[in-house]
Amino acid sequence: MRAEERFLIALNSRREGHSLPRELYLDPDLYRLDLERLFYADWLFVGHDCEIPRTGDYFTVQVGDYPVVVVRGEDGAIRAFHNSCRHRGSRICSAEHGSAVRLVCPYHKWSYDLEGRLRFARDMGKPFDNAKLGLKPVACESVAGYVWVCLAADPPDFATFRGAMAPYFRPHGIAKAKVAFESTIVENGNWKLVWENNRECYHCLPNHPELCRTFPEDPAVTGVDGGNDDPEIAAHWDRLEQAGLPSRFLLAPDGRYRLARMPLLGDSYTMSGGHAVRRPLGDVAGEPRIGSLLLFNYPSTWNHVLGDHAVSFRVLPIGPTRTAVTTKWLVDADAVEGVDYDLKELTEVWLATNDQDRRIVEENQIGILSPAYEPGPYNALHEGGVVQFVDWYLGAMQRALADRRGQAQVA
Ligand code: FES
Ligand SMILES: [Fe+2]
Repeated sequence: MRAEERFLIALNSRREGHSLPRELYLDPDLYRLDLERLFYADWLFVGHDCEIPRTGDYFTVQVGDYPVVVVRGEDGAIRAFHNSCRHRGSRICSAEHGSAVRLVCPYHKWSYDLEGRLRFARDMGKPFDNAKLGLKPVACESVAGYVWVCLAADPPDFATFRGAMAPYFRPHGIAKAKVAFESTIVENGNWKLVWENNRECYHCLPNHPELCRTFPEDPAVTGVDGGNDDPEIAAHWDRLEQAGLPSRFLLAPDGRYRLARMPLLGDSYTMSGGHAVRRPLGDVAGEPRIGSLLLFNYPSTWNHVLGDHAVSFRVLPIGPTRTAVTTKWLVDADAVEGVDYDLKELTEVWLATNDQDRRIVEENQIGILSPAYEPGPYNALHEGGVVQFVDWYLGAMQRALADRRGQAQVA
């Protein structure tokens, strides 16, 4: 039976308000369907502008089967290409980060300029049409210091999300920040379990002693009703919007992304609750207690932006029960380690939290691998965010199955 039909059978067997049918968390064919209809079709967050500040700087990312390279051109623009040589297909850039005058394939040294044009191919004789053998482009956009790519030949609208995200992020100057530290961990769990775990804090008190020092375990913060009924959150938004920091809860009509600035129990994600970095990040120095600007954009990223630093998270599936989570800590570009911040203090809360979440997700996956698993009820008070994610996933898959645009159509 085709994967599409099996997805629809699983969808029809789904119990409302319950975790997903087992096969959606482990089946290789349904995993491929997730890749093809979501990860190869949607805009994905891949990294930051400030990681490639100079001409020729690049970073690479692997999205399912597709190696991609993102490079800063002579004109300052950021472009993305399929990282596969037009000679015999070798991957060209293998480093995660690098800098090059030209992108040179290590196999036979075909070389491409920073706009992807083939510039050198030794002894190919005549006639040889270089123009037809440039690197295949990948759609690429940058907004407020966050770089996004889309593998589809006909990418879905990006402008609406850009219009939503840019005002919230503009004061924070992420495009001119620097990555102080990054970590990639592999979680032995389906990518949807990583997201489900992220979208609730029902598990936070028993599992995250470090995070709970400043992140409130309040369902209004993680939920999907926007915290509108919470007077403390409403007052927080009023104060910050008057100070020029867009803060109110904004949820995309299709549920794909959410923006909101939520109060913390302190200033930052540190053990003391104080700032980890002496220099403010962006233009927020005058305003105390700005909390955390939260952004998720399914299926690839969630984010926290604080007054002194930002933390970005990138989720990329690498197998039916394996997911890579990359975390980056961003600080002011001029902040000096050991002077303006201590790296351990900056990173310890989320390094601990990520590892705790990894264990949670892995235990969740092991339990679901049991044939005895059956979908259980989500908690109505604390797990509204999980229901919102699952509803988005099922809706997005249904739309993709009904829409030819959802198919991977690589140029
Ligand atoms: S495969 Fe790249 S130069 Fe031959
Ligand atoms: Fe967690």
